[in-house]
Amino acid sequence: MQKDLFDLQELESLLSGYWLTDLANFSAFLFEKVPDVNWVGFYLSDGKKLRLAPFCGKPACFVIPFANGVCGHAYRQVETLVVDDVDLFAGHIRCDSNSKSEIVIPLLISNRLVGVLDIDSPKVARFTGEDRIFLEKAVRILSQKISNYSGTKFGRISLSH
Ligand code: SME
Repeated sequence: MQKDLFDLQELESLLSGYWLTDLANFSAFLFEKVPDVNWVGFYLSDGKKLRLAPFCGKPACFVIPFANGVCGHAYRQVETLVVDDVDLFAGHIRCDSNSKSEIVIPLLISNRLVGVLDIDSPKVARFTGEDRIFLEKAVRILSQKISNYSGTKFGRISLSH
């Protein structure tokens, strides 16, 4: 059996319930703990496209149309996408030429699709089926923490102007 990527309880202890803070800490925690990754972060929907949200790694493209990229694809399908070799994925958006493989997991808060978590690796085929299940669990913990917070409801945060 594969060793867990990180301690889920430790992750949970870093989450406050306030969405912006938690997306930032979640990205920072995974960036530090998950071996062989060069970018971890979120893209959130403004209703028209995906916009860059808290992340760790090199500066990245700030807007992704729903129709484009691994992120747009996972968002549209509302399902996790594991891309073993980004060069073989038609429509992959290259933000960092070091990225070779990628996993994108939809982020649902209170059953509402709000965006995606994107993790890039400089290694081809970095993400196993077990990694996928584990990372989806981590995203559920994040989602529950934010959903349970009574102060600021994620659903009331508007990214559009
Ligand atoms: N590769 C992504 C774009 C975001 S960056 O990797 C940070 C995509 O194809 O959607």
